[in-house]
Amino acid sequence: MKSVPQSSTRARQIAADAAGIAEAAEVLRAGGLVAFPTETVYGLAGDATSDAAVARIYAAKQRPNYNPLIAHVASLEAALQQGIFTAEALRLAKAFWPGPLTLVVPLAPGATVCAAARAGQPTIALRVPVHPVALALIVGAGRPLAAPSANRSGRVSPVTAAHVAEDLAGAIDLILDGGPCSVGVESTVVACLEGPPRLLRPGGIARGDIEAVLGHPLAGPAHGGKLASPGMLASHYAPRAKLRLDAMKLEADEAGLDFGGTFGAHKNVLDLSPARDLDQAAANLFAYLRKLDALGLPRIAAAPIPHEGLGEAINDRLARAAAPRERDEAAFED
Ligand code: TXA
Ligand code: MG
Repeated sequence: MKSVPQSSTRARQIAADAAGIAEAAEVLRAGGLVAFPTETVYGLAGDATSDAAVARIYAAKQRPNYNPLIAHVASLEAALQQGIFTAEALRLAKAFWPGPLTLVVPLAPGATVCAAARAGQPTIALRVPVHPVALALIVGAGRPLAAPSANRSGRVSPVTAAHVAEDLAGAIDLILDGGPCSVGVESTVVACLEGPPRLLRPGGIARGDIEAVLGHPLAGPAHGGKLASPGMLASHYAPRAKLRLDAMKLEADEAGLDFGGTFGAHKNVLDLSPARDLDQAAANLFAYLRKLDALGLPRIAAAPIPHEGLGEAINDRLARAAAPRERDEAAFED
């Protein structure tokens, strides 16, 4: 029988039960790519110690290879083998792991995560996810897993297995379906290098909770400032429709991404949280953006979101989704 060409194969989608996780771990050990649920968004995992597996991740996502990946490990002990932790990095890890915090630290001398996963940087991004499927998969694979969000570069991050399939089914080996992600925005990325810890990307842990543990403010740009993380330039998470921010009223050609009932009763509107709960709004954000985009209207109007708690991450993602997509910027998307 003739073998099916790679481009026409579609990844199998299987339940994230014990058998599914065991099969996925086997695929990863053999150098394959597996999409899997985390508490934030679905990730696209490959063996972080293998240059070849990591090269496949970049190719599947069409991601530029100078944008480094997060290495996912199952414990703080495993993280300490890969990175050098300052006292403050350790304090943050102990407070928020397992959970949606990524720490960028200097690479440890005995680290096994390959240079390609780090995009050649002398630093490494590490995260211990709290989702039981993610943890079981890392343990089963028996090595750190490099895992960007499981979307094609520049698209909205996936929070269900179906979203992954829309973007990547033809380019990866397996999709583990563990249901919708509970947090809904990616991890907060904090660099603990020289000087005070720096916020590189607002995310699933609110800035205020991190600053409460540190006892001082995070360094780093305020809202709208320039971020230092290679994957954090504007023009990102872009829906097809044009996004209009801070809208108080809907116009005729617009779908509405509402918050707290700002737009009133209207068709083509989804309310991120009628009760103005920012955690609920984050959990709904990417799925609602995809649904509204699928209506095919030229524009999506987004109601104002308070800039507190997870509101900082939501506003960050909305600002990126609204940014004009310039040709050379597209190269930086992840
Ligand atoms: O919640 C998440 O973080 C998800 C799930 C799957 O864990 N992953 C995720 O990965 O969002 P990705 O690749 O889409 O975003 C990782 C971000 C990028 O902005 C990248 O530039 C930054 O982390 N990053 C990774 N390594 C870095 C490093 N050494 N220095 C600075 N930034 C780094
Ligand atoms: Mg991403």
